[in-house]
Order: sequence, then C-alpha cells, then structure tokens
Amino acid sequence: MRKPVVLITGANGEIGHALIANLARQRNLPVVALDVNALDPKAASLVQREVTGSILDNSLLERLLAEFEVDLIFHLAALLSSRAEFTPMAAHHVNVEGTLNLLEFAAHQAESHGRRVVFIYPSSIAAYGLPDLDTRRKAGQVKEADWNTPITMYGCNKLYCEHLGRYYAKHYKQLSEAKAPLIDFRCVRFPGLISAVTVPSGGTSDYASEMIHAAARGEPYACFVRPDTRIPFMAMPDAIESLLTLSAAQSDRLTCTAYNVRGFNASADEIRAAALKAFPDATITYRVDAKRQSIVDSWPEDADDAAARRDWGFSPGYDFDRAFHEYLIPTIRQRYGL
Ligand code: SER
Repeated sequence: MRKPVVLITGANGEIGHALIANLARQRNLPVVALDVNALDPKAASLVQREVTGSILDNSLLERLLAEFEVDLIFHLAALLSSRAEFTPMAAHHVNVEGTLNLLEFAAHQAESHGRRVVFIYPSSIAAYGLPDLDTRRKAGQVKEADWNTPITMYGCNKLYCEHLGRYYAKHYKQLSEAKAPLIDFRCVRFPGLISAVTVPSGGTSDYASEMIHAAARGEPYACFVRPDTRIPFMAMPDAIESLLTLSAAQSDRLTCTAYNVRGFNASADEIRAAALKAFPDATITYRVDAKRQSIVDSWPEDADDAAARRDWGFSPGYDFDRAFHEYLIPTIRQRYGL
C-alpha cells in the first residue's frame, strides 16, 4: 500500500516553511517535503518525510510516485525574479521544466489512484509587465487578464506555467481517446510576500522584508528602490491562508485559472516609516539600483482581487496596519529576542 500524503516542493523556501508550520498546526495531513536543500531541523520535525533532491530529477519523482499516493501538491519550488536574471537558463530549467515534471508527476498519480490531483501553483505579480510609470499609475488595480507582458525571465516562466497548468487541467492530450481530466490546476498570483520569520532570497520585492528585518536586527539598510515605489504586498499568514482556501475550494465555483490575491499596497517609504516607528534606532537609507527598480516599475501598483473574493471567498486578514501591529512587529521582536 502506498502512503497518502500531501507533496510540497520548494519546502525549504519562505512559503514552504510557513505552509509546513500551518499544516502541522491546523490540519492532520502527512507531508512529504521536497527541496534541493535539507530542511531546517524545526521544519523537518513537522513533516512525515523529508526528501532532499531536485524537481529536475525524474528518477527521484518516479520513486516518490512508487512510494506515495498524492491527491494534493503545493508546487512552490522556483528561482525568484532577481536571481533568475543572472541565470536565465537555470531559471527556465527549474521554473518551467521543473513545473512540467511536476505536472507529469501529478498526471501519473491521478492515473494510478483514479482521482484528480489538486495542483496548487503560486504565480506572481511578475506575470504582469506595464510599460511605464504613467501607464502604471493609470492602471491602478490590474485584473488577471491585463498587461500579461512580463519583462523578467521569472515572470515569463510563471505566466507560461499558468498556461501549462490550464492545458493539463483542460486540454491535455485532447486528440487522444477521451479521458476524465487528471489534474485540477489552481493558481494564485502573489504580490510581494512579507514574513516575520524568514527573509526571502533572490526576489525583487525583497526590499520590504529586508528593511524590516534589518531594522529589528539593528543593522543599517539601504533600500534599492525609490521611496515612492508602490506595489501590492501580503503578510505571510494570508498567503498561506490563500493557498489552503484555494486548495479546499469547490471546483465548480472556480472560473479562472489564476487569481490575484493581495493584502495591501504600500510604498517603500510607508514601509520604512512603519519599520522606524517600531525600531526608532534603525538606519534605513536609499541607494537605488536602477535595474532592479525598472523590474519593480514594470509590476502593477496594485492587483484587483475581486475574482478570488467572488469565486472562493478569499479576503485577507491583514491590511497594512494589522500586518505591522499584529503580525510583523510582535513576531519579529520575538524572533530576535527583543
Ligand atoms: N517576490 C517575487 C520576486 O520578487 C515576486 O513574485 O521575485
């Protein structure tokens, strides 16, 4: 008998950490955690099985197929937007081929146990690409179908994988003999995520988290975007809630492949002010990196999350004030023993 489990790829990343902690706390679901790096000991103690390896290793995926029965996959593994610009080929391998491998894995799982596999995929505001600041200001809250012209490798990878997922869910092998769909692909487009517990690596929205964590640690920080740079963000607990709510949603209610979610939209200077209010001795300056700035400037000022609210009832628990006062600042103080 194979063991029924939930599979999480990229389990050692920022979202993976929070998702594992949440699943262990709230639901009694055995988790198989896959990551290229070993999980940190705390996360490792919360999962049924830790597998260290790559989503590009097909023989590893075959072994997982033989050993486990999977109905739900959170495919989180990816190289983020800044990192991907230095190694676009590696980004394509991990972000696109890795996702294709996981979709094939999910299809084989479904064939083996006869049930549709729910495949949860985090896409990103990087899937959008707005041409200039004026257009961006006028666009305001963008809808899912607007401005799908990303300028980064990561954004292109994410947008293509949304389509791949839609293909596997709705049109897979459409010229072969008709079969029930194998995959139930569901995707959220995340804004910048801010966690009180972990610091992201390789992203371009990282300035928000880096600023707050540096302030708490008493280290000076030079923010790499202009003070007026405004994009949507979300507190990590809301991000996890969105993944779990979407995974449990009734499938006939879902009218979109990819759903925007957002918590609040804030400028770099508003985040700086909130960090300084909490940690008044901090030094936060600006040293704008024009290239990273132009990536952030291609992302929307805000995202329209009406479809997620309508189809699966999602509404974020944390606006800007709650995110800082009830989550980020108290949890970060605790994390650094302040
Ligand atoms: N946070 C991501 C990044 O900065 C965007 O999804 O790459």
